[in-house]
Amino acid sequence: MKKNKVKELGIVEMKNFLSHDEKIEEKTNTFEKIMTIYEMAITELETKINILQKEFKVFYNYDLIDHINTRIKQPDSIVNKMKKKGYELTYKEMIENINDIAGVRVICQLKDDIFKIRNLIEEIPGIQIEKEKDYVNHPKESGYSSYHMIVKVPVTLSKQTIYVKVEIQIRTMAMDFWASLEHKMKYKTDKEVNKKTSKELVNYAKIVNRMDNKIMLMNN
Ligand code: GTP
Ligand code: MG
Repeated sequence: MKKNKVKELGIVEMKNFLSHDEKIEEKTNTFEKIMTIYEMAITELETKINILQKEFKVFYNYDLIDHINTRIKQPDSIVNKMKKKGYELTYKEMIENINDIAGVRVICQLKDDIFKIRNLIEEIPGIQIEKEKDYVNHPKESGYSSYHMIVKVPVTLSKQTIYVKVEIQIRTMAMDFWASLEHKMKYKTDKEVNKKTSKELVNYAKIVNRMDNKIMLMNN
């Protein structure tokens, strides 16, 4: 069978498999099966990025990747996001529209390594890039900076290959520090404080960016 055929079949079969009318018990079962497939995709991608990390360390004596974090979106966060965005609460809608159910975060030391990592990911056989957002060269209004990719990762099962969407975020340790700080503060503070805090956070983001630029130049 041709590669494309396998891909289409995988997606179509998965959708059929998910969209049947089901009883609650079966539904729970189906949800677990879907989440397992997302976990498999994370395992696939994480392994491949781990191999790159090790290759650069051992063969080139270079710490291209500091560390990798992965996570699966919690069921309540998935449902909340679907409600907020006005999607019907079906598996089909979920698979088609929620791009960050499986998440892989790659943390590096130097700003320009973000793009080296991006290019290496692009070269991994089988990985398809669906969407990219460059918040490194174009930070968000909040100050947020990272490189985002939505990729499709092939998960090969005994009878079919399923292409599963994974969100990859590539950022420096400094960007990661800022993002987790901002995340914590946004959730902990009320609206009034938020305006002032937001401004402050944009300032911190600029400082972080200056630092990343200086460290990058120092290394070059
Ligand atoms: P959503 O996932 O619905 O936000 O879709 P989107 O198309 O707006 O995605 P985007 O690529 O802009 O952001 C996806 C993820 O990046 C979020 O789920 C966060 O993990 C992270 N992110 C984006 N903006 C911010 C931000 O301002 N602060 C922090 N801490 N994280 C952010
Ligand atoms: Mg998200």
